[in-house]
Amino acid sequence: MAWCYYRWRRVLICVCTPCISLALLFVYVTVMLCMATNGTTTSGLDAVHFVASGNNPKTFWELHLHGDAFWNRLQRTLDNHFNPILCLNNTKRGFENGTFHKPLLTQGFSKVINSDSTRRNFDQLPQQIQEFISHMQRRDYPALLQPDGVCGAGTKEEKEAPLLLLAIKSTGQNFFNRQAIRRTWGQAKWVAGPKRNGNGGEGGGYVRRVFLLGKGSTEELGVNASVLLQMESKQYGDILQWDFKDTFFNLTLKDVLFWSWFKRSCGRTRFVFKGDDDVFVNTPKMISYLQDQLKKPRAHKTLQDFMVGDVIAAAVPIRFNKSKYFIPDSFYKGFYPMYAGGGGVVYSGLLAKRLHDMSKRLNLFPIDDVYVGMCMVRLNAHPVHHPAFLTFDFPNKEEEELCSYHTILLVHKRSPDEVVKLWAHVKKTQAQCWDVPLREANK
Ligand SMILES: *[C@@H]1O[C@H](CO)[C@@H](O)[C@H](O)[C@H]1NC(C)=O
Ligand SMILES: *[C@@H]1O[C@H](CO)[C@@H](O)[C@H](O)[C@H]1NC(C)=O
Ligand SMILES: *[C@@H]1O[C@H](CO)[C@@H](O)[C@H](O)[C@H]1NC(C)=O
Ligand SMILES: *[C@@H]1O[C@H](CO)[C@@H](O)[C@H](O)[C@H]1NC(C)=O
Ligand SMILES: *[C@@H]1O[C@H](CO)[C@@H](O)[C@H](O)[C@H]1NC(C)=O
Repeated sequence: MAWCYYRWRRVLICVCTPCISLALLFVYVTVMLCMATNGTTTSGLDAVHFVASGNNPKTFWELHLHGDAFWNRLQRTLDNHFNPILCLNNTKRGFENGTFHKPLLTQGFSKVINSDSTRRNFDQLPQQIQEFISHMQRRDYPALLQPDGVCGAGTKEEKEAPLLLLAIKSTGQNFFNRQAIRRTWGQAKWVAGPKRNGNGGEGGGYVRRVFLLGKGSTEELGVNASVLLQMESKQYGDILQWDFKDTFFNLTLKDVLFWSWFKRSCGRTRFVFKGDDDVFVNTPKMISYLQDQLKKPRAHKTLQDFMVGDVIAAAVPIRFNKSKYFIPDSFYKGFYPMYAGGGGVVYSGLLAKRLHDMSKRLNLFPIDDVYVGMCMVRLNAHPVHHPAFLTFDFPNKEEEELCSYHTILLVHKRSPDEVVKLWAHVKKTQAQCWDVPLREANK
């Protein structure tokens, strides 16, 4: 009896003592952290990460958010609100039904914008940054024009989900770019992979197309541009236009609003291409490249994170005030995350939906591809670099080789006329060049 009693007491002591210590430690840490967030200063919290850093040592967290620049401070308040360890309360309140809790965010925003250091600097910021800041809280711009049906025009006859949706950033005046794309690489239809030895293409899939536009100035050459665009939309059913001013620093809105439309209207699509309207895409090659991705083992898992393009690592903001990319260091401090150049990038539909959710926890940033990179870091996903995405054109004289355009997935930049000629050239050389592989690094 006595032996049994001692044995159980020892077991109890062994098991319970660490539990009690851990519980006490947890309570202590939680109380300290919550006191720190609710206090006037948040500077003690820089070290709190809640996204695993993965295998990329230079994470966003370690490099970027320490600074006292405007965006950094703003993002820190948002992170604190959504940090599940810091304040469970806020996470629930702040993220109701997967949407922003407006009052909470406005509160955080006005705290930062009314702080002394922001007020002192605001007038010295360039005009377009000021413009950006004054509108950066708004993202609920209504759609003015939308494709009818599901996911672009003419989906009725399709028996399976589209393989690829082409989402192309355009502007009102770039009508000729859109026409060239519609007639060439952006045809919405069943696209076979490249023909193998004259036999039918192997694999293939449905391609859909949508152009992403904001609102331009309405008068052009005395013609009402919005009337023209309405007609174009009626004719082709591939225009997605929102009610915001189509400026460079508003491009990020095209990403977040596109993701939201995609999730609602196009969610079964396997892959999304997002790019500019002055690029040439080798669509058949792209289709077969994407089919290969689907055939890989554990594809469903890897596609959760799949993004491929011309990946830029360890870039820094441009501090030269004549550049259109100029970001002053009072606005943002630190490196940019690894990101895929916005000229053209491909990601999975699964990832598009995850980016959509993550974007709700991240303040808009004026440069769109950097913003997507920021969302990726937070998803702990890494864009993959592929040398067949030539967002800076062909190196040297490679272009002059007969089959050069069969070795690429994308090239920037090409005028509408060039796009039409290139498409004809690619069709004509198909039989000769069907087996050339995609470009590899260091070619
Ligand atoms: C948590 O929520 C309750 C009620 O909603 C509120 O009274 C309390 O102050 C909140 N705590 C924190 C730390 O925000
Ligand atoms: C969340 O959903 C509930 C029920 O669907 C709704 O009553 C509530 O208004 C929603 N909250 C927000 C912030 O949208
Ligand atoms: C152009 O047309 C739109 C839609 O019909 C109309 O709302 C707008 O006022 C017109 N703009 C001008 C400058 O006429
Ligand atoms: C973005 O669009 C909004 C709405 O049209 C506009 O008020 C704002 O000035 C634009 N922002 C920039 C940076 O151009
Ligand atoms: C750009 O920078 C130069 C020197 O750094 C400064 O003199 C000039 O005023 C700046 N221009 C603008 C528009 O801020």
